[in-house]
Amino acid sequence: MKQESYTPEDISIQLRNKKHELADCLGRDWYDNHPFKTAWFNAMSITFPLGEKSFIDSVRHYADKITDPKLQSEIKHFCGQEGIHRREHELYNITLCKERGYDLNYLEGRIARKIKESDTKLSSIQRLSVTVALEHITAVLAERMLGDQVDANGVIEGPMKELWTWHAAEEMEHKAVAFDVYRSVTQNKSYSEKMRKSSLRLATFFLIQDIFVGMIHMLRRDKKLWNIKVWIEGVQFLLGRNGYIRTSWPAYKEYFKDDFHPWQRDTRPLLESWEAGQLSHE
Ligand SMILES: [Fe+2]
Ligand SMILES: [Fe+2]
Repeated sequence: MKQESYTPEDISIQLRNKKHELADCLGRDWYDNHPFKTAWFNAMSITFPLGEKSFIDSVRHYADKITDPKLQSEIKHFCGQEGIHRREHELYNITLCKERGYDLNYLEGRIARKIKESDTKLSSIQRLSVTVALEHITAVLAERMLGDQVDANGVIEGPMKELWTWHAAEEMEHKAVAFDVYRSVTQNKSYSEKMRKSSLRLATFFLIQDIFVGMIHMLRRDKKLWNIKVWIEGVQFLLGRNGYIRTSWPAYKEYFKDDFHPWQRDTRPLLESWEAGQLSHE
């Protein structure tokens, strides 16, 4: 039997089945009391349920090609975690749109159409490579969420902090599962690395587009779309010295190295401190 899983032995991908009461938070600008920053996260949440369904489908498609029992079991837990994230963010999105008058059919409809279109145009292996790329992006964002500069450091509180850090921690636990499946099924294939890297460029472009379309809808409904101050602070939040995109950039671009693997970044200390925080709340 060949080794196919390269997730460290001491990482266990756990099903936690968390439930969150979010209605009180979602009715207001819950992130730093700021419309742009709040819309950034809310628009990201809109992409999750449909995105995570397609992650599950694309990985499951190859499950029977995997022989390493460790990776087989990680696939099962990966699908379990993403399934629960999907459920919680579905509820999040329904509550958000109800509380704030956003149009969920419009927001999700365009993502659903895009996924449907890519399902017809892309091969199974291309779909898997897009999943691997998006899993890299979520792992990078998770690192920031659980890290030092963090968003969770006094800016988010209560149930929102619980939801976003829980999702981040689980993304970090399973960050190499889709990657290991892709690497195993494309071993010795000449297109493997090229496809992996070009899928990240493509996935980044479409994800940012989806987030901005969502944000524009939200800010327009909030009557903040033409507020210059909100946009200047928003751009600062993304690209400034401690900005979201700027601080995530070094980890993001590691993906373009030839021998890249998600666990080359040892993020276990972040997971450990999140776990410790969980235990102290119980
Ligand atoms: Fe997820
Ligand atoms: Fe994930």
